Amino acid sequence: MTGAGMSAESGIPTFRDARTGYWARFDPMQLASEQGFRADPGGVWRWYAERRQGVRAAQPNAGHLALGAFAQRHPGRLTVITQNVDDLHQRAGNSDAIRLHGDILLDLWLDECPRRGVGRPCDTAWAGAGEPPVCGECGNRLRPGVVWFGENLPLAALTAAEQAADQCEVMLVVGTSGAVWPAAGLAARARGAGAWVAIVNPDASEIDSDAHQLVRGTAAGALPALFDGW
Ligand code: OAD
Repeated sequence: MTGAGMSAESGIPTFRDARTGYWARFDPMQLASEQGFRADPGGVWRWYAERRQGVRAAQPNAGHLALGAFAQRHPGRLTVITQNVDDLHQRAGNSDAIRLHGDILLDLWLDECPRRGVGRPCDTAWAGAGEPPVCGECGNRLRPGVVWFGENLPLAALTAAEQAADQCEVMLVVGTSGAVWPAAGLAARARGAGAWVAIVNPDASEIDSDAHQLVRGTAAGALPALFDGW
């Protein structure tokens, strides 16, 4: 199971780093909640547009590639559960990574389409300068496909992640502060079901006590060594 630290060495900032983290510099309730988006759709859309550019420009790091290579060598033996909204696991070869917090490159309608079920759904979106695309028929806006604070996780992803936690022999937790639930509960759940749990993180996390083993290293530094020879 991975968090933002997994992609830090690809140049994508984490959320809670005291200096560079998004939530150290910006207010999550303005930028990662439905209320925040409705209050300032243009400002929030532009912030996600910048993050999207960063994700598109980033490359998988040696940690992503180690996981991807293991999955290729041992089909069916590795399930990647990620809280990350980038697509670096997918590009490194874990195309079926379970995405608990959505996909930043995906657009969703903000509101349920009023025409769904009664004819053709809205499909005519266009962008004003720096504004989120808006449906020309009903005014509905597009929003980024990430899970915001106060929203439920996608049920299919959460169910698949819980099943993987219940069934795995080993859970490796990489680059997460363990501050956000329900993802933070998966390590304890796996341990409770009999898995051996290791955490890879250069710093302490809130779920360190769930681990049998703490590996004080970075994703790109530690994962290639951990998977070497397997
Ligand atoms: P955080 O920013 O809370 O935590 C990042 C963790 O990565 C910290 O524990 C760091 O010590 C660790 N870290 C930093 N660099 C690392 C490296 N190179 N290798 C390994 N670990 C490193 O990020 P998350 O735990 O992912 O929600 O945050 C959880 C959720 O909170 C995110 O998914 C996001 C945010 O609000 C959504 O986007 C919905």
